[in-house]
Amino acid sequence: MRFKDKCVFITGANAGIGEQATLKFAKEGAILALSDLSEQLNDNLQKELKQLNTRFSYKKCDVAQSESVYRVFAEFVNEFGKIDIGVNNAGILGPRIKTDAYPESSFDQVIDVNVKGVFYCMKGELNHFMQNGGGVIVNTASVAGYVGMGKHIAYGASKHAVLGMTKSASVEYGTKNIRINAVCPGFTETAMLESVDDDMAFKEMLKISTPMKRFGKPEEIADAILYLASDESSFMTGQGIILDGGLSVQ
Ligand SMILES: NC(=O)c1ccc[n+]([C@@H]2O[C@H](COP(=O)([O-])OP(=O)(O)OC[C@H]3O[C@@H](n4cnc5c(N)ncnc54)[C@H](O)[C@@H]3O)[C@@H](O)[C@H]2O)c1
Repeated sequence: MRFKDKCVFITGANAGIGEQATLKFAKEGAILALSDLSEQLNDNLQKELKQLNTRFSYKKCDVAQSESVYRVFAEFVNEFGKIDIGVNNAGILGPRIKTDAYPESSFDQVIDVNVKGVFYCMKGELNHFMQNGGGVIVNTASVAGYVGMGKHIAYGASKHAVLGMTKSASVEYGTKNIRINAVCPGFTETAMLESVDDDMAFKEMLKISTPMKRFGKPEEIADAILYLASDESSFMTGQGIILDGGLSVQ
């Protein structure tokens, strides 16, 4: 029970990596402050959390809207008394289009969610952690924060930015009992990967280009999120952990 009585705020908790992290934190005794775009948490997740006797609350939050993030975060602090860990995981991919034709509106949308969303969450968390004696932040970046990813100019820019924010803020709060790290997944089996393309041949190509010849599972990324959130990573800050089946070392 690594997270007994620790309160964990998670964005994008309703699906994919966020959903698996939610379940794993629940199994390790955490209290959960969950948020996503939808009105309600999905039925399966609600059922599983109830079966685990998890103390949790769900609130709709659009991370691209600063007022939505600050309001929801304050409501959770009010409800649970404190937040110990922030998992800033919500993100979107944007369309798959080469840079010369990439729409400005899509660029703005990806940056609003993936960059500004993480910034607003970090700002809320850091202000709270400073008053509360410390805390831990885990951002979800991507292997696309390290390497180029064709036809995804905004996504690549946004995930490089998430790593940049992770590093910059970690320098500022190193002496304040606040650690900030990131997970950097490669191709992972979630709705986001499903949305890449309907073309099975393209998906097969992505798989074959990964040395382990398979996609990651959201549970595998969630394991790294819990490691970074736990005391097991107590001397780590400002880092990104790459979990990509070897994709980026070729
Ligand atoms: N799946 C992959 O291959 C992959 C690879 C690298 C990084 N990632 C990153 O992992 C994170 C989670 O993605 P996933 O793969 O689980 O995808 P997903 O689509 O299954 O889940 C993303 C969740 O974020 C939520 N979300 C989207 N926009 C939001 C907003 N404005 N405000 C609040 N919530 C919002 C969605 O509703 C959804 O529940 C993202 O940051 C993504 O960029 C995914």
